[in-house]
Amino acid sequence: MKRKQRPNKASNGIIDIRQMQLNDLPQVFRLGQRLFTAEKLPTLYRSWDEHEILELFQSDEETCLVAEDDGKVVGFALGCMMEKPRSAWRYGWLEWLGVTPRLKRHGIARRLLNQLTQLFIDREARIMLVDTDEDNTDALAFLRKTGFGQETRHVYLSRNLDDHPKSVERKNGHRNGKVH
Ligand SMILES: CC(C)(COP(=O)(O)OP(=O)(O)OC[C@H]1O[C@@H](n2cnc3c(N)ncnc32)[C@H](O)[C@@H]1OP(=O)(O)O)[C@@H](O)C(=O)NCCC(=O)NCCS
Repeated sequence: MKRKQRPNKASNGIIDIRQMQLNDLPQVFRLGQRLFTAEKLPTLYRSWDEHEILELFQSDEETCLVAEDDGKVVGFALGCMMEKPRSAWRYGWLEWLGVTPRLKRHGIARRLLNQLTQLFIDREARIMLVDTDEDNTDALAFLRKTGFGQETRHVYLSRNLDDHPKSVERKNGHRNGKVH
């Protein structure tokens, strides 16, 4: 059976994958804000902020990529190399990946990932790592499809500090005009 062609919703059909520039940062940040929401992806939501992207960009700008459609950022793959002292292993870490909802399932993430993988290989990475929320079904389907596996579980725990005695003490101190 012939596979149905998905309608191409890109404005001119040409989506460019290129290295991220500093002036892409606000668009990348806004796109991430739309994708990593507190309801859908709480762990990613918590750590997505402008400083995080800037730091990553400054530490390894070559491995920060964007997909551009008619001057607009419609996707990103932000990664970095990790090396351990006294170890022969070099890792390529895919930290953030996202594609604008209107252009999902058009192969953009695959193209971003392919380019990033090539960059990691050029830098002699031997393993590529990625992590995401356990119930992020879209990302897991994508990653499993593109060759990731050997899944291990990692548990995030949290503790509410609002009713910690030190927090209560601090708040009471403020109320009584004592500031430490
Ligand atoms: C995960 C994500 C990046 C995938 O982007 P995408 O551009 O839609 O992915 P692609 O079109 O390149 O998909 C390549 C293949 O992966 C698989 N795949 C991707 N998304 C899938 C989904 N939602 N369900 C099932 N399979 C999926 C398919 O096999 C697909 O090929 P096909 O469309 O020819 O069947 C995108 O859904 C996204 O931005 N999600 C929100 C942000 C996020 O969770 N990021 C990852 C954590 S950092």
